[in-house]
Amino acid sequence: MEIKKVGVLGCGLMGSGIAQVCATAGFDVTVLEVEQKFLDKGIAGIEKSLAKFAERPVEKGGITAAQKDAIRARLKGTTNRQDLHDCDIVIEAIIENVQQKRDMYDSLDGIVKREAIFATNTSSISVTELMAATKRPERFIGLHFFNPLAASSSTDGSQVYVAACDQYQPDGVTCAAGSVHIVDTISRGDFQQVPYINNSTNNMCDNGGQNAPLCVADMIAIQPQ
Ligand SMILES: NC(=O)c1ccc[n+]([C@@H]2O[C@H](COP(=O)([O-])OP(=O)(O)OC[C@H]3O[C@@H](n4cnc5c(N)ncnc54)[C@H](O)[C@@H]3O)[C@@H](O)[C@H]2O)c1
Repeated sequence: MEIKKVGVLGCGLMGSGIAQVCATAGFDVTVLEVEQKFLDKGIAGIEKSLAKFAERPVEKGGITAAQKDAIRARLKGTTNRQDLHDCDIVIEAIIENVQQKRDMYDSLDGIVKREAIFATNTSSISVTELMAATKRPERFIGLHFFNPLAASSSTDGSQVYVAACDQYQPDGVTCAAGSVHIVDTISRGDFQQVPYINNSTNNMCDNGGQNAPLCVADMIAIQPQ
């Protein structure tokens, strides 16, 4: 199935970033929030981020003013779940609460077209447990974007996702079901950190530091325990 329209649930830190990268990749995006004030805040953050990209030269990863306007025009915000009825994929990024996520999927099952894919961006909740709350378990996937989203290009995901989202083309990694994701597992491990740090250092040398794991760790302020 060709993905044309993406629904995003939640316009907080991750939802706004997911909406932005999807619109930048050329998809029509509708992002859902519980209240207009949260939507306004999330969309304002996206506009600020796009404005920054438009200030940057295109050859250094920036976008033109026309591209900025086109991306913004592909983005719509709503507080009405019915507006997601014709999405091809719905990516959930609401708060990390099992019951709220389950309730959300339950209500969307009857609204969003049957063939659409449901995805969760959860960091730590079992994807299987969320999948069980839907009537479309065969079209339910874990799809984990990393923060900061607009500046990074990697995801953990499933094979279904890799097939479904090949138009977006992030650096996807297929992984088995588990309670945490690949990057979390590596960065929270003990001795595994040694090869990780070595690789990070190599990456920093390779690409001048942009988006390298240590830069990202620094940006998101990981602190020693
Ligand atoms: N923050 C991170 O670094 C990070 C990284 C990867 C994954 N995640 C996961 O992404 C998800 C979102 O995290 P976040 O950091 O963006 O949280 P956040 O608190 O910044 O945003 C959540 C948003 O969801 C909205 N929301 C809550 N209930 C809703 C509902 N029923 N319908 C629509 N919107 C609703 C809230 O108003 C809020 O704006 C979580 O599952 C989290 O575990 C977070």
